[in-house]
Amino acid sequence: MNWDNITLVGFMGTGKSTVGKALAERLDWAFVDVDLEIEEAEGRSIPDLFREQGEAYFRQAEAQQIARIMQGKQQIVSMGGGAVLREANRKAMSENGLVVALTASAETILERVKNDPDRPLLAGNPEQKIAELLERRKNAYQFADIHINTDNLQVMEVVESILSFPSK
Ligand code: S3P
Repeated sequence: MNWDNITLVGFMGTGKSTVGKALAERLDWAFVDVDLEIEEAEGRSIPDLFREQGEAYFRQAEAQQIARIMQGKQQIVSMGGGAVLREANRKAMSENGLVVALTASAETILERVKNDPDRPLLAGNPEQKIAELLERRKNAYQFADIHINTDNLQVMEVVESILSFPSK
């Protein structure tokens, strides 16, 4: 695997963290979860950050962490679902390795996130919020090098299909 890094992007609940951990283990690379890096740098949870500082502040902190993390090598980087919204973030990902977009249907996403309180953007009516955000972000993942639908795949099947992508 001669990519500098492999970055996983995709909507909330598409499997980025689960697949990312399995892929990191398989390659013996570091696993880096951008949301956790933000929480550590800011000393607060993501829901607290959204509540206390707002989304714009969160996006700034996210961009800072992405710029820093993407300078590293041999990492599987799991991005937050909205990280693709900024051009500078997309550029940092594309210039520093393979970008894999994981996708899933709205039903699968709802099933995977419905009992998780840690996603402030889905608070209230998750079903409606998922539909709205999926529509708003429908083109945001197009820059990725590979797209994999995870609805009916086991974690290791996703890992293998990423690894079967030709090295550069
Ligand atoms: C967000 C997704 C979350 C987290 C934050 C915002 C988004 O990450 O970064 O709540 O804008 O889609 P996950 O995709 O890991 O849930």
